[in-house]
Parts: sequence; structure tokens; C-alpha cells
Amino acid sequence: MSNASYKIAVLTGDGIAPEVMAEARKVLDIIEKKFDTTFNYDEQLVGGAAIDATGQALPAETLAACEKADAILFGSVGGPKWESLPPAEQPERAALLPLRKHFGLFANLRPSICFPSLTQASPVKEDRIEGGFDVLCVRELTGGLYFGEPKEIRTEDGEQVAIDTMVYKASEIERIARIAFKAAQGRDGRLTSIDKANVLQNGVLWRQVVEQVAKDFPDVKLDHLYVDNAAMQLVARPKTFDVVLAENLFGDILSDEMAMITGSLGMLSSASLGESKGDGLYFGMFEPSGGTAPDIAGQGIANPVAQILSVAMMLRFSFGMNEAADAIDAAVKATIDAGYRTGDIYSGDEGTQKVGTVEMGDAICSQLS
Ligand code: IPM
Ligand code: MG
Repeated sequence: MSNASYKIAVLTGDGIAPEVMAEARKVLDIIEKKFDTTFNYDEQLVGGAAIDATGQALPAETLAACEKADAILFGSVGGPKWESLPPAEQPERAALLPLRKHFGLFANLRPSICFPSLTQASPVKEDRIEGGFDVLCVRELTGGLYFGEPKEIRTEDGEQVAIDTMVYKASEIERIARIAFKAAQGRDGRLTSIDKANVLQNGVLWRQVVEQVAKDFPDVKLDHLYVDNAAMQLVARPKTFDVVLAENLFGDILSDEMAMITGSLGMLSSASLGESKGDGLYFGMFEPSGGTAPDIAGQGIANPVAQILSVAMMLRFSFGMNEAADAIDAAVKATIDAGYRTGDIYSGDEGTQKVGTVEMGDAICSQLS
């Protein structure tokens, strides 16, 4: 075994984040021993917690720690306490988006997986997702309307006018398309590219570039959907999708829809990756897909699975520890199969028991060791 060591910037954040991060750390402790690896943690403030302590959502010290790290393990940021701040100072805008941009994390991978034993939790009719739902959303994360300039509210002819700019370079479309095609090769070989080519110039170019990239991946079956139709097809025939590729805003919206189809946001992880470092590994930020769930924070009932699966993604994409990542994925599945359910996924089925955050984490840890 490797005896390698990795530096992890741990940015925990707000709401339920401290509780679920604690469980993720327990998992990392086991991996460390089992796979003869050393993890060096650099814990830093981010989001609302950082605003309270320093006045800034992303203090310079936090950014510096991330720069020195091999990967960022992120919790979630934001909550009602900081919602009345000016938009530019709010945790999401002032911490999350700058982190993505600063590190060029253009590739956002969001697996939406509904385990066969959890299909009841889905709001979609059970026959439509029978056997489970397993779709990977590949979302472009550093372009489009989120970052295009100009971006402002200005006064024209005596009234306020808001402007956001949707802009994509062909090279930005190409690099995210390549990630999506490669992901499809490693899965079921099907890719659905999303655009709005019937209205937007961005959509026309998007489709053109994706078609061009497709020539390098003849083994992947590509189709295109307009975003409005995609939103509909996802609930109508969820099981027929494999990999979905979308620009930033469309990916934001559709990935929430996919998450809801699984019925349990507390189970979903995500990875935001930059360019490959050449060795097949990526610098990245790994975080649960769900938010800070302020309504249940501090009660010990949050589902830690999303944060734990984010650890697995970090091991896989940033450290190349595929075996350890597989072990975590399997431990989570075994724990669900054994009937452990946090409140968000508990429906009173026979053979299941409702547990809290710590018990869920412990159950996963004992499967792992
Ligand atoms: C997400 C979130 C963020 C986004 C917000 C919090 C800025 O919704 O990661 O999907 O829109 O990208
Ligand atoms: Mg979102």
C-alpha cells in the first residue's frame, strides 16, 4: 500500500454542516488506517460562520489554505441569519462562487442515485423508477450567466434595468463536453446534451461543439434535448437517462430536479473539478448537493451520507484512491440495505429503523472496518 499523505482543506460552513462533517471525518480516520495513508487537515472558516468571526465569507486565510491543499472538503454555507446581507456579501455568492472561479473548477459532477430500496422516497410514481435511478449530471460551473460580464443593475431612462450576460467560448464548451463523454464511456455509454438552441445563440454553439467532440467518442450514443423538454422528460422517463450534460444555469436547475427524483437530497454528493493535473487526478472541491438545512441544524438528525459520499469522490478524483472510494460507496449501500434510515429517507418500512446523524455515521464506519 501507498503510505501517501494528502493535505485536505476542510471548510465546514453552516447549519447541519458541522454535524455531517464530523461523520465524514470518522470515515476518513478509518480509511487512513485501512489504506495506510495520512490525511493532514487544515480546518478553515467559510460562509456564515466566517462572516460572524471575521466579517468575510471567504477570508484570505481560508483561500490560502485551499491553495496549499490537495483537495477541498466542503460542507454547505448559508442560512436565514445571513439572508438580509447585501447579495454580494451573502455566503453563497461571496464564498462558493469565488472558490469555483478562483480554482477554475469548471466541471461539476452530480450523481443522482436512488437505491432500489429507497424508491419509495421518490415523489415520482414507483413504476417509473423501479429498480432505482442512476443519472450523472455534468454541469459546466465557471461560465454562462453566473459569471458573464456585464452583470449589473443600472438605471436607464429613469428606471432600473438588470443585466446578466450569457457567454461561452467554444473551448469552454469543448472541455466540459469531453468530461461528459468520458464519464459516459465509464457508465452506460449514453449522453444527453441540454441546450436551448431554438432560442439562444449559446445553444447553437453548444450543440455544434458537442457534435464536434462526439466524433472522438463513437462508442457514446449522443442525443440533444431542449432544456424545457428535458425538465419534462426527466420526470416522465427518468430511468432512460445515463449522463446529462448542461451549461451552468440549466445544470443548476436540472440537477435539483434529478435530486428530487431520487427523493433524498441528503444522499447526494458532488465534485467540482479543475483541469486534470495530467496524472488522471484533479484538484477539486467536494460537497454535499443539499444545503445547510437550517430547520434541522443542531438536532442530530441530518443525513450524513451526502458528506460521506463526497469524501469518496475526493478520494477517487483527487487522490486516485479508487479502492478506498469503492469501499465507502459499498459501506453506504450496505448500511442502507441493513435498514438504517435517517428521518429524510425513513418511511416506516418493515426491517428499517430511524436513526440519528451519529448512529448513521457509526453504522457506515462499522461496515467499513
Ligand atoms: C448549487 C447552488 C449554488 C449554485 C448557489 C448556492 C449559488 O444552488 O451549487 O447548485 O447556484 O450553483
Ligand atoms: Mg443549485
